[in-house]
Amino acid sequence: MAGFTVAVAGATGAVGVEMVKALEERHFPVKNLKLLASARSAGKTVFFCGETLRIEEMTPESFKGVDIALFSAGSDISREYRKAVTDAGALMIDNSSAFRMEDDVPLVVPEVNPEDAKKHKGVIANPNCTTAIMLVAVAPLHRARKLERLVASTYQAASGAGAKGMAELEAQTRAYLAGEEYAPSAFAHQIAFNLIPHIDSFCDNGYTKEELKMLNESRKMLHAPELLVSCTSVRVPILRAHSEALNLEFAEEITPEEARAILAAAPGVTLVDDPAAKSYPMPKDATGKYDVLVGRIRQDVSRRDKRGLDLFVSGDQLLKGAALNAVQIAELFC
Ligand code: A2P
Repeated sequence: MAGFTVAVAGATGAVGVEMVKALEERHFPVKNLKLLASARSAGKTVFFCGETLRIEEMTPESFKGVDIALFSAGSDISREYRKAVTDAGALMIDNSSAFRMEDDVPLVVPEVNPEDAKKHKGVIANPNCTTAIMLVAVAPLHRARKLERLVASTYQAASGAGAKGMAELEAQTRAYLAGEEYAPSAFAHQIAFNLIPHIDSFCDNGYTKEELKMLNESRKMLHAPELLVSCTSVRVPILRAHSEALNLEFAEEITPEEARAILAAAPGVTLVDDPAAKSYPMPKDATGKYDVLVGRIRQDVSRRDKRGLDLFVSGDQLLKGAALNAVQIAELFC
């Protein structure tokens, strides 16, 4: 039977579960699916395309005969298994941050830079979720008017911290409403009814690593080494869709009408921009959707020229920000 032998490493995780669903929903040509996780999950079952599949404990031998390995088990596991995967001749599509900035590892969003995927040497990296969601909206505008500077404020869901982050938000919200204590463990502070302006660790310049990913990964994917990006990343009590307020400065003038026309034709974008009808992107509406929702498009009134735009985006962190993007990268090789 034609098709690929696909492995999902981290198949029980928040992203891994969505990878399996996306393979099925998008009719990816799977000949054989191997579901891999830790020993804790070995023997659990998952339903895929009408079949019941068993989770196996991941070992270096798991990749024999595998064509494509979708990894979402964290950076340490990706580093540990890279050699076993590539030695087995499999293409590793890695959702972690382990290899993203390596010169020989393409960093790919298929709507942005699909041509880079073909230059791989065994590993392709999936970008940071917030960057992936942002660039689906920003890349078409950049192609039209050349983006020079971007200021982002993000509103990132609990799913960014994996299944345990989502579970903590739900349980802590229940506990809070019942007047009970629930000590944080997935997050640095209480996330229920709170905001935490701290995602990933802090760097010497006061930014977090998450915020600097927006700069470095955008430059790499847009092939724009001069691009200036400043970001403030905030964890919010939302289950799984990230939102971002973006202020964009272009080399050339661009009006909101022109931006709307460009975005209406852009792949992966749904324009939701009718404020009079109270229509704008919201995480509740982006949840479960493949497309990134883009709206609140307006001219930046803090400038004397027309080179600035403001907009708001929401995208499903587990889908376009992770699992869907990985499966779309695999589709480039079908
Ligand atoms: P498991 O469920 O068996 O621990 P999340 O990001 O949602 O927390 O998910 C992390 C994923 O990585 C899970 O599928 C988890 O499996 C998997 N994982 C964690 N540690 C290992 C390991 N040592 N070997 C293989 N998979 C692992």
